[in-house]
Amino acid sequence: MPKETIEKNRRKFIDIWFEALRIPSISAEAEHKPDMRRMAEWLVDLLDRELGFAAHLIETETNPLVFGQSPEVPGAPTVLIYGHYDVQPVDPLDLWRTPPFEPTVADGKVFGRGADDDKGQSLTHVFAVKTLLETSGTLPLNVKFIFEGEEEIGSAALSTFLESEENRRLLAADVILVSDTDKPAADEPGITYGLRGVVGYELTLTGPNRDLHSGLYGGSVRNPVAALCAMLADLIDSDGKIQIPGFYDDVVPLSERERAELARRPFDEAEALAAIGLDASFGEPEYTVIERRGARPSFDINGITGGYQGKGGKTIIPAKASAKFTFRLVPNQRPESLTRALDAFFRDRLPAGIKMDLNFQHGAGGMVIPLESPFLQAAARGLSSVYGKPPLFIRDGGSIPIITKVKDRLGADLILAGAGLEEDGIHSPNEYFALRDFFLGIESSAAILTELARVKQ
Ligand code: BES
Ligand code: MN
Ligand code: MN
Repeated sequence: MPKETIEKNRRKFIDIWFEALRIPSISAEAEHKPDMRRMAEWLVDLLDRELGFAAHLIETETNPLVFGQSPEVPGAPTVLIYGHYDVQPVDPLDLWRTPPFEPTVADGKVFGRGADDDKGQSLTHVFAVKTLLETSGTLPLNVKFIFEGEEEIGSAALSTFLESEENRRLLAADVILVSDTDKPAADEPGITYGLRGVVGYELTLTGPNRDLHSGLYGGSVRNPVAALCAMLADLIDSDGKIQIPGFYDDVVPLSERERAELARRPFDEAEALAAIGLDASFGEPEYTVIERRGARPSFDINGITGGYQGKGGKTIIPAKASAKFTFRLVPNQRPESLTRALDAFFRDRLPAGIKMDLNFQHGAGGMVIPLESPFLQAAARGLSSVYGKPPLFIRDGGSIPIITKVKDRLGADLILAGAGLEEDGIHSPNEYFALRDFFLGIESSAAILTELARVKQ
């Protein structure tokens, strides 16, 4: 039985996972370039050594892709398992209680950057395949792995790779399986059928040609930081409604049926708020928090810079100010039309004496997956067999911008079955993945693969 095999390999799986977590593969930081390659090579070696898959690096203009596949199982479906080996930066480092790249167990949880997103979750599939191989000697279906090292910075390499027909043949599959989302609760399995898209910008405002004395010039020239604050503040009202004309035009209204499905997700608002140190939520009053997160668009300022931020004070009017911000989009909203509308919105409000530069950084639309797919239903049966209850179908607020492209280009069905939890603190200091969820993830993946193999085409 797979469960016994997993139990027997418990120590080994943890040790391998820890090896992965010790490699600081931060894609956003140029100084980690060598670590990206080291991480990719480590994965190739893992797939070769543990699974006997013919794995190899795929060189790209940026970080390498990792590909591996099982020996052919004739007549059986093919699953492509996607994951990403890059992680987010660890900043602010002083808030980590343990070193981010020295995995540490406490409280039944493994702490470390990438513990969940997405090294831990990706590895659950590798270990599931290992488990199936060890339990029955063969695999019930064709398995391919594709790991990229740029999910957190826009997936340029994988996106380019998908443009060639030959490459698409290499990745060709009936169904794509991904664990890079969350499950609804520790004992509650889920299949994510919707993800929001994301569009990122940087806006820079420039005023005088140098920082000026705020006494000599104050009251007589426009302050770029103040202008930036005013322009950004105009973007959203106190009910969370985005003020760009036409912004909601393409948003598909939520049906009553879908609202009922989303409401089945267990969610204690007070508890969720307490976990992040808040006593009030924010957003469109006519939607629940779950709806606001998964099925409504949003706007957030990610960082804002300008003027003097050192010790003490400095009486200046800064020369420059800038902000990085993102919109989360729902299906049918288009990043390109947003960019045009946003540029016009800011130009309308740009005060005399200030110049603006709006820089588009990345963009991808949102998606929803039809629930009728036989593979999706098979995955649901697999999850039911592990958790003793059927999965909830959920819409997540996060984005995996490349995944719609992978699905469309390969013409395959998509299953997003998260093994982690919202509380794992991905992208935050002290990210973790509970051992319980990690091993449930392995067991779930093994069960899902077993069920996918049974789908008749
Ligand atoms: N794994 C996340 C996305 C995610 C997490 C989706 C939880 C649903 C539930 C992914 O690695 C991620 O962080 N994506 C980025 C994309 C961005 C950098 C373009 C995101 O959503 O911010
Ligand atoms: Mn991820
Ligand atoms: Mn991420």
